[in-house]
Amino acid sequence: MNIDELKSVAQAIVARQKGILAADESNPTIKKRFDPIGVESTEENRRRYREILFTTEGIERYIGGVILFDETLRQSSRDGIPFAHLLSGRGIIPGIKVDKGAKALALHPGNKVTEGLDGLRDRLAEYKQLGAKFAKWRAVIEIDEQNVPSAYAIRANAHALARYAALCQEADIVPIVEPEVLMDGAHDIQRCNVITSQMLESVFSELNAHGVLYEGMLLKPNMVIPGMKCPQRTSAEEVAQASVRCLRRYVPAAVPGIVFLSGGQSAEDATDNLNAMNAMDANPPWQLSFSYGRALQAPVLTAWKGQESNVAEAQRAFSKRCQLNGLAREGIYSRAMENR
Ligand code: 13P
Repeated sequence: MNIDELKSVAQAIVARQKGILAADESNPTIKKRFDPIGVESTEENRRRYREILFTTEGIERYIGGVILFDETLRQSSRDGIPFAHLLSGRGIIPGIKVDKGAKALALHPGNKVTEGLDGLRDRLAEYKQLGAKFAKWRAVIEIDEQNVPSAYAIRANAHALARYAALCQEADIVPIVEPEVLMDGAHDIQRCNVITSQMLESVFSELNAHGVLYEGMLLKPNMVIPGMKCPQRTSAEEVAQASVRCLRRYVPAAVPGIVFLSGGQSAEDATDNLNAMNAMDANPPWQLSFSYGRALQAPVLTAWKGQESNVAEAQRAFSKRCQLNGLAREGIYSRAMENR
């Protein structure tokens, strides 16, 4: 394990103003994003779309790393430059999603566990050769009114995250540890806080037991936020306070950065909530940043619609979201900036 390399890559991804673009949608997921804009999910359309994102001018000021899907890591720009080289040439660190998705957890109805540990050591070695310097594994925790998640589902997912993170560090790849408590349900912010706390406690207990180097990893959690079907309304300040309080209790100060997922929040809400955290005079021990998928890409897809003539507009939309999230990293974003 090259401790210096792991530390410096983790720190570079969350350098000042910077965060992560999550562009690692699996083929079924990107199809869900393309369907509403009438774009067929072919390999070439997926390549064209990712090229729009990766070639947008100026994003390297705000994007420290990009998470790619297996297919994308093997693709190239229309000029024949492999995407991983194109990104590193711009000072953006390429990363790779390595989990194989969440599957039903046997004997625990309603709970899921993420698969993909078998053969992971060999896949990591290949990804490293292809230029990936960091990786991502997403655990999915659903909340329902009754017994989901089960205590065992939390432990099983935390254990898999630790096994994955250790394999990454053994291969000198920075693990992004993503325990996502979904915001799909009708639960309130208090229930999200309880489950997120249990999950983080379990994750760091397993990471510690496995000997994972906290300085050479990043945490990608959900914000502490009410479920989408919950009538409760919360301000950005309330979400920020609940999130930072929860994270302070469970995330060791040695972790260099916390990069939130957007999880179905609107692009503006995701930026506003991150901004509120960085604007609070809390002096947190870690960088508070973003690793957004939908909150960075939704406006780009809407502008693009698969048309070559819309590429410039799509890149403007992407550049704007990157810039505004860069400002949110400093706590100096305001909603008024959306209309400029
Ligand atoms: P969202 O920001 O759309 O939640 O995606 C981030 C991600 O990578 C989920 O695994």
